[in-house]
Amino acid sequence: MINLRLSSICCYLTGWLWLFSLPGWADNGEVEVLHWWTSTGETNAVHVLQQQVEQQGVHWKNFAVIGGGGESAMNVLEARVISGNPPTAAQLKSSEIRDWAALGFLNNLDPIAKTQHWDQLLPPTIANLLKYQGHYVAVPANIHRENWLWVNTHIFKAAGAKIPTTWDEFFTAAQKIKAAGYPVLVNGNQDWQNTTIFESIALGILGGKDYIRAFVQHDATVLTSDKMLKVFEIFQKVHQFVELPPQSDDWNQATNLVIHDKAAMQIMGDWAKSEFFIAGKQLDQDFDCVPVPETQHAFLFDTDSFSMFHLDNKANQKAQKILTRTIMDPEFQKRFNLAKGSIPIRNDIPLDAFDRCAVASRRAFNQARKTGQLAPSIAHGMATTMPEQKALFDVVNHFFNTPNADPKQAILRLNRATQAAQ
Ligand code: GAL
Repeated sequence: MINLRLSSICCYLTGWLWLFSLPGWADNGEVEVLHWWTSTGETNAVHVLQQQVEQQGVHWKNFAVIGGGGESAMNVLEARVISGNPPTAAQLKSSEIRDWAALGFLNNLDPIAKTQHWDQLLPPTIANLLKYQGHYVAVPANIHRENWLWVNTHIFKAAGAKIPTTWDEFFTAAQKIKAAGYPVLVNGNQDWQNTTIFESIALGILGGKDYIRAFVQHDATVLTSDKMLKVFEIFQKVHQFVELPPQSDDWNQATNLVIHDKAAMQIMGDWAKSEFFIAGKQLDQDFDCVPVPETQHAFLFDTDSFSMFHLDNKANQKAQKILTRTIMDPEFQKRFNLAKGSIPIRNDIPLDAFDRCAVASRRAFNQARKTGQLAPSIAHGMATTMPEQKALFDVVNHFFNTPNADPKQAILRLNRATQAAQ
């Protein structure tokens, strides 16, 4: 009888222990994570983060706001914070990190950064973007390379075109592809997507040093130089070959057309790569990743990072710490970046399991750091403040969408708008 009772108590306890060992049952609080990763590849990457924090007993509340580039997500964030109800964590870009930190909303992540040796692991250029007044206020997940040209190899073959490495070669290939009856370059007509093309051209023509002088230091001599004029001239010429995705302007709708042999190329960050793999396409056989013409040795970077908002709830504060540590954890960095198309922010993580675009990306990143060809993306908030980014978006989009716009006028407008936004 006693034995029977003991064994049932034992089963009862084991049952509860088992329950607590299930993901989400230990009381390690909840994280509500705001992000704009809603394409299929991006969603898979978010699931890696969700799984890894759930395994540590943290409840995951997804807060996805549709819209590549994150503009809508930032509007939603503002509304939530103003109403006194910030999410636990939000995907923020460097300009926004500084703004929210200056307003006093973000947690200081220095204690975790210290135990995980972030200062030793992170490239200084990127570490600086994650700090406010010398303190870490954001944790980085990856590095995306933005100056990629995604190429449909079947269309290139059918058109007898050569994959371009210079802008002259690009226009020769574009003529052939057009003559063979294929759309040449797909691009959604959104501010950040048009700026992706613009800044990729700019990096190649200006070189890393002058790109930074123009867009980070707002040097009027570079902004109004002959080289900048050439950037706008090429940008205008590229526009002649741009096709809009018919369904919507979302970047992944455009990628879909390249994936399904309906367009030859797209200029987009390497988050696009995941969509090719998910659709069952093979690198080399069906598609290729090559640097945007004339940017072979340059790297336009975009880092995704999360900031933690001040909260009163003790359990959720614990959850924030788990989330922060997880994002810099080597296993997470590997699994997440395999899904996301980017490379780990930590150089110590081997890329054995990654594809050759990722391997090329890390090589280019490390080389560009040494040669001064590492440049921050304006489209993704790495280079400028929000007002400066908006000013540039205005000039670039107006120019791109105005037939026969004058490049000479454009460089003057660019300089005026940039100086006024400071
Ligand atoms: C960027 C972000 C990338 C990717 C892209 C398109 O701002 O850094 O991770 O998600 O938007 O949504």
